[in-house]
Amino acid sequence: MAAAKIMTAIGLMSGTSMDGIDAALLQTDGDTVSGFGPSLSQPYDENFRDKLRALLGRDSDHNEDATAIGEELTDRHAEAVNRLLADNGLGPSDIDVIGFHGHTVFHQPEKGITRQIGDGGRLARQTGIKVVNDFRANDVAGGGQGAPFAPLYHAALSVKFEKPLAVLNIGGVANVTWISPDGGLIAFDTGPGNALIDDWVRDREGLAMDEGGKLAHAGTVNQAVLEQLMDNPYFDLPYPKSLDREDFDVIAATGLSTADGAATLVAFTAASIDAAAHQFPALPNRWLVCGGGRHNPALMAALRGLLLQPVEPAEMAGWQGDALEAQAFAFLAVRSLNGQPLSLPGTTGVAEPMRGGVLHHPA
Ligand SMILES: Nc1ncnc2c1ncn2[C@@H]1O[C@H](COP(=O)(O)OP(=O)(O)O)[C@@H](O)[C@H]1O
Ligand SMILES: [Mg+2]
Repeated sequence: MAAAKIMTAIGLMSGTSMDGIDAALLQTDGDTVSGFGPSLSQPYDENFRDKLRALLGRDSDHNEDATAIGEELTDRHAEAVNRLLADNGLGPSDIDVIGFHGHTVFHQPEKGITRQIGDGGRLARQTGIKVVNDFRANDVAGGGQGAPFAPLYHAALSVKFEKPLAVLNIGGVANVTWISPDGGLIAFDTGPGNALIDDWVRDREGLAMDEGGKLAHAGTVNQAVLEQLMDNPYFDLPYPKSLDREDFDVIAATGLSTADGAATLVAFTAASIDAAAHQFPALPNRWLVCGGGRHNPALMAALRGLLLQPVEPAEMAGWQGDALEAQAFAFLAVRSLNGQPLSLPGTTGVAEPMRGGVLHHPA
């Protein structure tokens, strides 16, 4: 088979934490990563976060608000692309394709629906670069969970490492990829990541996050509330499985002080990840952690207290833990152009390896 062309791609991710847009450049042929490029994070302002929040849990199809906010979201992504290019002395002609994830507002795979707002054609016109979006729709239409979608990228990054290996992404929702010695993949959402902790400190203190895990460190885990939170059928469900950001909430913690609630929600995220570990066919020899949750020392300490193997930030593997999800969508955009599958039975439960993505041209 002829070697596939190495492309330069930009991946764009707006995660369920709603902290903002991650943009990252990647060189890849769709199988192998040839080089990491620069990346950036462009935070959303509180006003735009509120607009996104108002859309969550409602189908965005035929929803005028979702269309308007999707256009604003697209324009913000175009700004992020233009900034990434300008900061690095690059132009549109240096980039082969953009992988545009969009923002998930509604995820109900059992009904065959997953919706990411964002207008691929508009982004292509605004940047002058080809855009691939709508990565998850085919998978869900084919009976898959439509998530997680980073596992094939995790596997590409991990070829040289000893297996079994677990790559844990702690975003708003947390997801894990377990890679077997022969390269086989199992992946699923483990439970909440940062979203409940963020929601809790926003409701109580008007904070965007528990910076440095300060509140959680100051509090004590309430075991009864933790048990109540863990008493959820999701954790016993066999994989493949995925979650909507709205599947969990902080109601059980209502009676707790801010600090005890933060400690308990941190313990909840950690316990749900430990529950996932018990579902793997064999324990991994290490956990490589990406996503914003690895910046929360209280969460990392809770994980280290529960998991038997080393829990290390992705940087220990030479990866860029804040750019990894965005890089994954650069990788998937190239795979989409090549006609390679984006998801597998082991990663989303889809019946057979599934292609996907919708291509938009600038003109
Ligand atoms: N310094 C920090 N201290 C505590 N939590 C942090 C810190 N930095 C990031 N986080 C957490 O990570 C989240 C962002 O994670 P991210 O990986 O971007 O999630 P998503 O992929 O859902 O956007 C923040 O909302 C916050 O909860
Ligand atoms: Mg984010």
